[in-house]
Amino acid sequence: MITTTETGVTLEVNGERHDLRLDNRCTLLDVLREELGLTGAKKGCNHGQCGACTVLLDGRRVNSCLVLAVTADGSAVTTVEGLATAGGLHPVQQAFLDHDAFQCGFCTPGQLCSAVGLLAEARADGEVLEESAVRERMSGNICRCGAYPHIVRAILETAG
Ligand code: FES
Ligand code: FES
Repeated sequence: MITTTETGVTLEVNGERHDLRLDNRCTLLDVLREELGLTGAKKGCNHGQCGACTVLLDGRRVNSCLVLAVTADGSAVTTVEGLATAGGLHPVQQAFLDHDAFQCGFCTPGQLCSAVGLLAEARADGEVLEESAVRERMSGNICRCGAYPHIVRAILETAG
C-alpha cells in the first residue's frame, strides 16, 4: 500500500502569501500550475533539461520541476506573471518584444525569468556582460524555435 504525507507550506508567490497543504512529492512547478493556476512556467521536459519551468526562488533562478515544493517553505517565488508591475512590463519583457525574441513562445516565460536572474547575478558580481557570457549563462534555457540571437540581443540591451 502506498501512503503519502502532506505538509503545510507557506509560499509568497508574486507578492501574495499562500498557505497550502501539499503532498510531499509535489514539485514547485506543479504547485504553481495546478494549485495556484499560474501556468506561465511551462512543463517541457520535467527533468531539469530544458529550462521552460524556470522561476525565481528568493531571487535565484531555479528549474521549478526539480524543486520539491515543501523545500521552498517560507520562500518568495517570482513567476513570469509577477515580472510586470502596474508601471508596465519589466525591462526584459520589453526588450524581448522590441527584439522579437520569441516565435512560438513556449520557452519564453522561462527565458524571461532566467534572464532576470542572470542580470541580477551579473550585477552582484560586478560583471560587464558580453555576448559569450550571456550565451553561456542562458545555456540551460532551450528554445526549439532557435530564437537565440534575438534573445541574446534583448538581454544585452537590458544589461546595457
Ligand atoms: S520542465 Fe523543468 S527543466 Fe524542463
Ligand atoms: S520561442 Fe518557441 S521554443 Fe522558444
